Formats: sequence, structure tokens, C-alpha cells
Amino acid sequence: MSEAALPGQTKKTGVGDAAVVRGRQDEDVVVGGEIVRHRLSSRVIHWAVALFFFVALFSGLPIWTPLFGWMATLFGGLSVCRWLHPWSGIVFAAATLVMFIHWFAEMKLTDTDREFLTPGGLVRYMRYQGEDSEVGKYNGGQKLLFWAAALATLGLLLSGIVMWFPEPFGNGLRQLSYVVHDIAFILFFAMIIGHIYLGTAAEPGTFNAIVRGTVTKEWARLHHPKWYRQVTGDARKR
Ligand code: HEM
Repeated sequence: MSEAALPGQTKKTGVGDAAVVRGRQDEDVVVGGEIVRHRLSSRVIHWAVALFFFVALFSGLPIWTPLFGWMATLFGGLSVCRWLHPWSGIVFAAATLVMFIHWFAEMKLTDTDREFLTPGGLVRYMRYQGEDSEVGKYNGGQKLLFWAAALATLGLLLSGIVMWFPEPFGNGLRQLSYVVHDIAFILFFAMIIGHIYLGTAAEPGTFNAIVRGTVTKEWARLHHPKWYRQVTGDARKR
């Protein structure tokens, strides 16, 4: 149990705090009853991507249609949105590139992921009937989100640049950019709604992984059994 620190004293750390401290540098390690799932750098990168995603989204929507005109007041008016949106989009794309490099090696699709992504595999997963004890640190759906986010960001960036500096481009490409930008952000937004649902309400304990950095052993054994076995050395299958 941790004790409160007196002024000038270093706070004594209990097991829970020890996991947080360990999570500043390391991940995939067991600390007491918890497992560090995302070290601090992974979490900072994730939240930078999420922050600039929403700034770009909320500053872009009032430019897209007057239906969302009221959102412009969040940033000080439509004229602010007109410069904030492309710049926040650039920062969002840069943060996504950093996230892509950071997680790329862990997000390669395996045969297990492909099976997981079939309709039968997904139904079994949603019913917790998955016999699949081979799901590692990320399941097929999470890897798919990662690749789809990278692709959608590239589409948004390229089409956004054409709309921002239209002069050198032909009329056809300009028109196409509007369509690509709109389709990409609508699909991206829908995907992120699903992602937020799965990361919070649908799977209790998951949000902790990306805020505090840790999950319980039970969570890991239920959702990512192969990763659980690798990290804990516990060879029992689910
Ligand atoms: C409020 C918004 C968000 C919440 C609550 C949220 C939540 C989470 C959580 C809990 C995880 C860790 C999942 C795990 O360890 O199993 C995660 C991972 C991830 N997030 Fe987010 N996220 C948000 C926004 C975003 C945005 C805007 C993007 C991309 C544009 C994004 C991309 C990712 C990716 C690629 C991963 C790794 C793969 C995965 O676990 O799905 N997230 N997020």
C-alpha cells in the first residue's frame, strides 16, 4: 500500500505506483498483478495523434458545411478555422507518421489475424467464444485500424494539399481531391467512433492501457492470451 508523502519526502511507491514508474520506459513487463502494456512514449504519441485529429476535425467541419458553423466559435470564428484546419491537419499527419513508425513492426498481419477478420472469427470474438488462444498483443481488428488510419491520413494529406494550393493542379484533380477528402474523413470518423467504443465502454480496463499504461493480468488473459503467455511465461492456454 502506498503512503502519502510528507513535504520534502519522496513518496513511497506501492505495487500500483511501481507499475506506473516502470511504464515510463518499459512495456510488456509484469509488475505485481498488472502488466505494462503501453510505455509512456507510446501513450504520448497516441494522444498527440488523437488531439490533432479532433482539432482538425472540429475546425474542418464548419468549413465543410454551415450546419456545423457553430463549432467555429470553439476556435474564435470561421477565419481562424480556415488557417487552423490545414495546419492542424499537417501536424496530425506528422504525428500519425511518428505513430506509424513507432508501431509498424507490431502491426504486421499474421495468418491468425486473417482468420480473426473473417465474419465467423469476428462473431466468435464478439461472443467471447473465440477458441483462438493465438491472439497476440494486438488482434486483427486493431491492426486493421492501424493500417486504415495510415491510409486514410495519407489520402487526407494529399487531397488537402491539392485543395490548399490548387493553382498547379488541373481541374479534374482538384474536383477529385474534394471527393477523396470528404470520403476519407467520413470513413475515418466512423472508424474512430468504433475505436473509442471498443477502447472504453465495450471492454472495461482497455482505456487504462492508454492512460495509465497498465492492464490487469485477467484483462490480458481474456483479450490477448498469446501476449499474456509471452509476457508472464504462463504456458496454460485459455
Ligand atoms: C478519445 C479518443 C480515443 C480513445 C478513447 C482511444 C483509445 C485507445 C485505447 C484504449 C487504445 C489501446 C488499446 C489496447 O491497448 O488494446 C488505443 C490504441 C490505438 N489508438 Fe486510440 N483512442 C482514441 C483516439 C484515437 C485516434 C483519433 C486515433 C487515430 C487517428 C487512434 C489510433 C489508435 C491506434 C492505431 C491504436 C493501436 C491499435 C489499437 O489498439 O486499436 N486513437 N486507443
